[in-house]
Amino acid sequence: MPHPDISLPRLIAHRGLSAHAPENTLSAVRAAHAAGIAWVELDVQLLGDGTPVIWHDATIRRCSDGRGRLAELDLAAVRRLDAGSWFGDVFLGERMATLAEMLALLDELAMGVNLELKVNRGRDPLALVEATLPAVMDVLPPEQRLVSSFNDTALARARDLAGPDSLALGVLFEAVGRDWRRRCEPVQALSVHADWKRLSRMRASEVVNAGYRLLCYTANDPTAFAPRWHWGVESVISDDPARFLGHLPEA
Ligand code: G3P
Ligand code: MG
Repeated sequence: MPHPDISLPRLIAHRGLSAHAPENTLSAVRAAHAAGIAWVELDVQLLGDGTPVIWHDATIRRCSDGRGRLAELDLAAVRRLDAGSWFGDVFLGERMATLAEMLALLDELAMGVNLELKVNRGRDPLALVEATLPAVMDVLPPEQRLVSSFNDTALARARDLAGPDSLALGVLFEAVGRDWRRRCEPVQALSVHADWKRLSRMRASEVVNAGYRLLCYTANDPTAFAPRWHWGVESVISDDPARFLGHLPEA
């Protein structure tokens, strides 16, 4: 499997440091950096006008002071939203970040990103990849980016656009079933990203023995998670990675 030589840390901050700052915002990434976490996981999708933004949900209700579907909003509309005070008054005025703004911050802080191509129901995976991947590859060096998705069409298009050896791709699984290779081989994946609660020891060992890197999301309980380090898991994606300090395996 030809891949950039990516050194992944044990701990990756899920949606930025989302236990301590509003998820997927510039503040959440700055908070991860301040906490000594070198990589963040972030979600990217498109506004209705085609602007790529860092956002998880299909709607803006949960994480802003507005209402509506992302697919029906343009950049001018989301600029008026407050995407911080739902989390805490201190974040009042936080804006939804565009991909361009987020990439500039990651570059400035020399942080790595696991960027999830988030294809919510009814959204076009091809448009998402085509609007995001060139910018990601342009701004961040290969060892600072790992692009992942649950959506196989998005992964395939990313591989087509990037070529065979300059982009690390991760395949996201809810449950890693017996036919897990069928999703990984066609896109020359670097990594398998598994829901830690649904991952079996047998499947973990198959993944690792086949030469794939194994990451787990979204774990916040280091004690419950602990046995999985011995299954070959390389990195944990956590809302609060600091909880894992003191619970990590020897290097
Ligand atoms: O990329 C890991 C994890 O973020 C996938 O689930 O729903 O948090 O994007 P979700
Ligand atoms: Mg995600």
